[in-house]
Amino acid sequence: MAEKVRVAVVISGRGSNMLALSEYKRRDPGRHYELVLVASNVPEARGLVLAKRLGIKTWSMRHQGMTREEYDAALDAVLVEHQVELVALAGYMRLLSTWFVEKWEGRLLNIHPSLLPLHKGLDTHRRALLAGDEHGGCSVHLVTAELDSGPVLAQAKVRILPRDDAESLAARVLEEEHRLYPIALDNYALALRESEGNQSSLSRSDGEGDRGGGAD
Ligand code: GRF
Repeated sequence: MAEKVRVAVVISGRGSNMLALSEYKRRDPGRHYELVLVASNVPEARGLVLAKRLGIKTWSMRHQGMTREEYDAALDAVLVEHQVELVALAGYMRLLSTWFVEKWEGRLLNIHPSLLPLHKGLDTHRRALLAGDEHGGCSVHLVTAELDSGPVLAQAKVRILPRDDAESLAARVLEEEHRLYPIALDNYALALRESEGNQSSLSRSDGEGDRGGGAD
């Protein structure tokens, strides 16, 4: 069986999505990913405490006093050190530098609490209510240089009720986030392994062609 895709979750706060990713994997070890690291720019983040309890390696470093590039280089180094293949942002409240996003392009996922492309950025639930939307929701997407604008991998909708305020809507959307993110990450990890398998069988058949040519 193919090795599990090594995933780092990058957080700044409570870490409930990180916990959901971990629980999904714990319930069925046959999933295609494993959490090898939880990293944070906030050393006192609640999610780091949870990760330690779960026995997942953690890393944290404050970003204050560093340029964005310096900080992202430190983050990148720890990801490389842990042979991370996919990075799952989950409540990481900091913009990433362009070089980091480009380096991890196609391997950097995020969950956003809106139905993208609606309501990019912060304060999404209040804006969905103000806009009179029928639905709120969440999106798992690939991260690209432009904020919350990368290709959407999966979405879940939540009906907005007449009595909703931003808090009640956020709570129902969060439940959907916890369902959606693990499935989307697992699917993406599987697709990654499948694409690697295809590439290696392609290069094997190229190699055989070369050998055949040489023997003639
Ligand atoms: C979630 O609502 C997520 O969509 C957003 O930040 C929040 C993080 O929550 N990007 P948690 O730290 O996973 O509990």
